[in-house]
Amino acid sequence: MGDNMGIEDIRKEIDRIDAEMAELFVRRMKASERIAEYKAQNGAPVFDKEREKRIIENGCRRVPEQIETYYREFISGVIGLSKDLQKSLIALDSDDAVYCPAGRYNIYAGEGTVERHIAEFDLARRVLILTEDGVPGAYPREIADYVTQSGGIPFTFCLDGGEICKNIGSVSDIVTFMLENSFSRNDCLVSVGGGSVSDIAGLVSSVYMRGIDYYLIPTTLLAQIDASVGGKNGVNSDGVKNVIGTFSSPLGVIADRKYLDTLTQCEISCGAAELIKIAAVLDAELFEEFDGTVTDRQIRRAVELKVDVVNCDFRDRTLRRVLNFGHTLGHGIEITSGYGHGQAVALGMLAMSDGTARERISEKIRLFGLPETGIFDTEKVMNAVMHDKKGTGEKTSCITCPEIGSFAFAEYGAAELSERLKSVLNEA
Ligand SMILES: NC(=O)c1ccc[n+]([C@@H]2O[C@H](COP(=O)([O-])OP(=O)(O)OC[C@H]3O[C@@H](n4cnc5c(N)ncnc54)[C@H](O)[C@@H]3O)[C@@H](O)[C@H]2O)c1
Repeated sequence: MGDNMGIEDIRKEIDRIDAEMAELFVRRMKASERIAEYKAQNGAPVFDKEREKRIIENGCRRVPEQIETYYREFISGVIGLSKDLQKSLIALDSDDAVYCPAGRYNIYAGEGTVERHIAEFDLARRVLILTEDGVPGAYPREIADYVTQSGGIPFTFCLDGGEICKNIGSVSDIVTFMLENSFSRNDCLVSVGGGSVSDIAGLVSSVYMRGIDYYLIPTTLLAQIDASVGGKNGVNSDGVKNVIGTFSSPLGVIADRKYLDTLTQCEISCGAAELIKIAAVLDAELFEEFDGTVTDRQIRRAVELKVDVVNCDFRDRTLRRVLNFGHTLGHGIEITSGYGHGQAVALGMLAMSDGTARERISEKIRLFGLPETGIFDTEKVMNAVMHDKKGTGEKTSCITCPEIGSFAFAEYGAAELSERLKSVLNEA
């Protein structure tokens, strides 16, 4: 074939091959669909690594040596797509799962999800369980037992504190520990903790030997609905939050509600502020449901909403900014006063909403024990909010909530923002 063919003939030949490949691709994906159905019904492990290896090696034997590398990449890609399809179908079929197309992984949320879904994590290897000393020790120990049962070898690295450990020193300590314990590129990391731990875990996994697999088991409400969704990670440096970080998605997330039982009321309301935030700007129906307790459905719905936003804007350039509702002023209040993150965000949301929307956000904030007014130094907060814009006249972009379930992008100068801030100041 080939030598006597003109360019047009060769192109026709390629068109025929592509048409055949499209048909074969459809057949392969349909077979994957049937496997997903089987797996959903029989609860078998989702993927069989040994079988995957055999498929690749068998295929490689059929192709000439000079194109073997290309074939390996091609068939690995096809297997990856089959797995993605299976994950999304299993998620459709499951009450627990939300499929995240941007990173192609499932987030399982709700009571009992660890027990039901941990078998889907590939733990038959060296597994670094990253946690911190504020997380009850029983949680990482339970995950270590699952690793052992899967035929893997668990190692636990316990950080000494949460947010204060979000620095490059911790990243370096973890890397040293992994090297000392012979972690290779094929091993993985599992985070068991709140957003501080998952942010560090995501960063370490994305840089250790240029990237290894990782899974998240979030144990705070905030981490379950927010920090473990969307593939952002980071550590703080030079007083700037998350300034060293990457975008990198986990292979899976399990947000089991049982972990929330040991949280303090303060930590619950911190997560609740984010729950109110996402519903206030994106889902009036979810917003209506809030009565001061957090249900599996609410957590799952909040995860779905964040997944939808992240899908539209994985790299945080446009729509993802909507998740900053309440955070511009909230962050200023948090860093200049004694308020925690959730309390500060609650005040920030109220300041950025008006009329009926504001009244209704107030009602929900009250139900979760969050403040409707605060005591802070307006000037200090404004300095923190406008830090790099002082005196330039440049405006700050903010998100407002004109009515529940909707949002608007707005640009405010210092004077307007200051007025809004004063509207939540307790002057008593
Ligand atoms: N990557 C993202 O997209 C994203 C989004 C939002 C927030 N974040 C980050 O998340 C962090 C905040 O997360 P957080 O609120 O989970 O804070 P955290 O991880 O510091 O945890 C808060 C406190 O709860 C304790 N804790 C954790 N799990 C517990 C449990 N089950 N029972 C009892 N105590 C428990 C911790 O020890 C800590 O004292 C911040 O660093 C923030 O920057 C990241």
